Amino acid sequence: TRVAVIGGGANGEHEVSLASAAAAVTALDPQRYDPISFTIGRDGAWLVAGEPLSFAAAVAELSDCDVVLPLVHGAPGEDGTLAALCELAGVRYVGSGVGAGALAIDKHATKLIAQSVGLRTAAAALLTPATRDAYGWSGPVVVKPAGAGSSRGVTAVHEASELARALDAAFAWDARVLVEDMIIGREIDIAVFEPRTAAGEPLISPPLEIRSEGIFDYDAKYGDRHSTDVVFEVPARLTSLELRRLEQGALALYRALGCRGVARLDFFLARDGWVLNEVNTVPGFTAVSQVPQMLAAAGIAYPDLLDLLIQEALA
Ligand code: DAL
Ligand code: MG
Repeated sequence: TRVAVIGGGANGEHEVSLASAAAAVTALDPQRYDPISFTIGRDGAWLVAGEPLSFAAAVAELSDCDVVLPLVHGAPGEDGTLAALCELAGVRYVGSGVGAGALAIDKHATKLIAQSVGLRTAAAALLTPATRDAYGWSGPVVVKPAGAGSSRGVTAVHEASELARALDAAFAWDARVLVEDMIIGREIDIAVFEPRTAAGEPLISPPLEIRSEGIFDYDAKYGDRHSTDVVFEVPARLTSLELRRLEQGALALYRALGCRGVARLDFFLARDGWVLNEVNTVPGFTAVSQVPQMLAAAGIAYPDLLDLLIQEALA
């Protein structure tokens, strides 16, 4: 089976996507799969198996593969654009389709869908350059681009005097910015994978708690602080009621967004219950990322996870 593994991407998560793709290529069972690396450069140019190709030639190569494993985090890529490319090229692909990708990359749209299935989210103002000056300080907030990932452009703001700089940082990534009330709580992720075959039971991973000294930002995720300041605990210690609520909420939201393949849903456990933070339809797939670790704790090793996803895409 020829598997096109797409990594890189013309966005702020380029390196993370390269790492996810490299990890997947290494882990695919060589007896069953023939991986072909497709790399999107920071400038949007495509490399196929190390060769620079025009976009048209790269898409022709993509169409010759049996299945695509898109591992581009962030937009463009995770926002449904790669799914759209696969749809139009008529090639099967792993993961969410156009609509779910576009909804989930948008943290504001995600909140609206989450609320519609009864999940709480942090209260937030959605700002554009035209409305940013009208925003009035009311206490600690987290400022983030509505559509970026890996904490790019995200700032926790404790003082009114820090707000302008945080807004500048977020607007550098996106013309739509969320200013969210800061949630105090434990940071807990969970992964959901529901096969689209009618008989397929949803697979819900054990939850993972992120214990980070300071904010779980880009450096804590991938940089020097990852090994020193961050501990993942799987399964997160929860009461059975907390776990049941988390699983129900995560599955309901996965379905309401129309996700496919594996999605990672990130929550806070605040004093008064669960608060949805965000949903990743192309969650980190590096060896240090949460999804491989959560599924490993469920007895599904990384190569088997890839196998499940690819077989489901081919079914
Ligand atoms: N956006 C990063 C890759 C994640 O969700 O893990
Ligand atoms: Mg994210």
